[in-house]
Amino acid sequence: MERLTSSELRQAYLNFFKERGHAVIPTSSLIPENDPTVLFTTAGMHPLVPYLLGEKHPAGTRLTDVQICVRTGDIDEVGDAFHLTFFEMLGNWSLGDYFKKEAISWSYEFLTKVLGIPVEKLAVSVFAGDEDCPKDEESARIWQEMGIPKDKIFFLPKKNNWWGPAGMTGPCGPDTEMFIDTGKEKCGEGCSPACDCGKYLEIWNDVFMEYFKNQDGMFEPLKQRNVDTGMGLERTICILNGYNSVYETDLFDFAIKKLEELSGRKYSEGGDVTLAMRIVADHVRTATFIIGDVKGVTPSNVDQGYVLRRLIRRALRYLKKLELDGSAMQEIAKLYIEKYGDVYPFIKENGEKIISELELEAERFSKTLEQGLKELEKVLTHIQGKVLPGKTAFRLYDTFGFPLEITKELCAEQGFSVDEEGYHEAFRIHQEKSKMGAEQKFKGGLADNAAQTARLHSATHLLNAALKKVLNDNNINQKGSNITAERLRFDFNFDRPLTPEEIKAVEDFVNAEIKKGGEIICEEMTVDEALSKGAVGVFTSKYGEKVKVYTIGCSKEICGGPHAANLSELGTFKIVKEQSSSAGVRRIRAILE
Ligand code: ALA
Repeated sequence: MERLTSSELRQAYLNFFKERGHAVIPTSSLIPENDPTVLFTTAGMHPLVPYLLGEKHPAGTRLTDVQICVRTGDIDEVGDAFHLTFFEMLGNWSLGDYFKKEAISWSYEFLTKVLGIPVEKLAVSVFAGDEDCPKDEESARIWQEMGIPKDKIFFLPKKNNWWGPAGMTGPCGPDTEMFIDTGKEKCGEGCSPACDCGKYLEIWNDVFMEYFKNQDGMFEPLKQRNVDTGMGLERTICILNGYNSVYETDLFDFAIKKLEELSGRKYSEGGDVTLAMRIVADHVRTATFIIGDVKGVTPSNVDQGYVLRRLIRRALRYLKKLELDGSAMQEIAKLYIEKYGDVYPFIKENGEKIISELELEAERFSKTLEQGLKELEKVLTHIQGKVLPGKTAFRLYDTFGFPLEITKELCAEQGFSVDEEGYHEAFRIHQEKSKMGAEQKFKGGLADNAAQTARLHSATHLLNAALKKVLNDNNINQKGSNITAERLRFDFNFDRPLTPEEIKAVEDFVNAEIKKGGEIICEEMTVDEALSKGAVGVFTSKYGEKVKVYTIGCSKEICGGPHAANLSELGTFKIVKEQSSSAGVRRIRAILE
């Protein structure tokens, strides 16, 4: 197997698919645009959902990229060999272009020829079929033609061999997954890539997206048959080099080395030390990317900002186990900025902001810790008996960020113990509550109520133009956008509340544009052309690359769509709330009546 570095693998992958007619597109932001169903971009397909549903992509029907992703669902698993909260996903897409034959044969060719993986070391799984979709005999046959023996082709059910949708509804389909057979003994009769005994390590996933899961949980055929693939960069480098964990790859080894230097401990010590170093290395990297993103957020108590806060505080807690503090976190972040700055220039550009936000959050955390200590003192002087109730321990955790271990240590110093079972029970109840809240919140996505969200999306462009005009400030820019079927939410940089007169003027401006009516026009052009025509938008695309520009009334904006067809569809625009979002950023919620 080729012992590639991370940059060699990125390049090899993109070149391979470029040679096969794919346009190389840049990574999208970690914060999804106009998708209320998830907080972060979790897979390469996520920013491409409109195109998988049939929108035309300006770069064509064959795409390839390296997408930055955040997944925090498995945060408790971080610290093992493979789980990460941030990762890069290599992917290639067919948007109604090629299908199983090409996708599988290219995957095979890339794995065996470019990565040099011996065919004997490969195993694959394909979809076993059920009432929603037939057994995938075709993929199995193609794999066999490639040279994968029958006993290395596993038919597995939906639980294992179906991917998507990314949110509650959206494009999805059966997949075929590729594994490295480590050569370990089978763990039993039924040993297959579906079990986690470690014999098979997943390396790549080709999804055949030809279904749409609707709100009733039914699978409808999509307009077009797509291919969506995903290969985890960190994981693949680890497997190719025969490392024990992703932390030994060139994407982490320098951070671990720094932690060793600063703490005087050894990564190889095992136990808590290894675990703490891994968690710190993972969380600080993720925080660096969330703050440094083109639509970067800062720590707060809601949405992405809250996830960020938890990651930073968790990293600080594990640093404490290494007898280190927030300054170590900044040192590690500086190394990540250096390492990733060339691949993702926005990380370098936002370097100072990343460091200062980490520093600020560390200060805030140490203050809450102080307050928590006072609170604990108070509780302990009033308590009956010698056991701190679980609920109180949980409150210290939830409100003051006190980890259970610290509460236990502090209590022990004064001869108290902690009702740990009660703590875990309180934790469980809290988790259930927040899960219910999240389900409520994430109900309905862009795809569900397509026509309504498209109208609100068009209104967002007019709002963006109206703010610049009414407030007479061309530096006003979109800082975030989130659209549900009911309302739009738009964040922009402005340092004071709008007056009632200004709000009214913005509404009037948007409604006057709507009244004029007229077709909403979408044109494809290069970024430079778009700029010269005065289009606004996030210019993350590469030089010379084609983008879509939407003309909606007086507004011209670079955007992926989708939008309404005509302004006359929009109705009446009404601002329902104007408030602060974070320092220097205002937030408007508006509806169409
Ligand atoms: N979307 C697929 C995945 O994330 C490729 O595995």
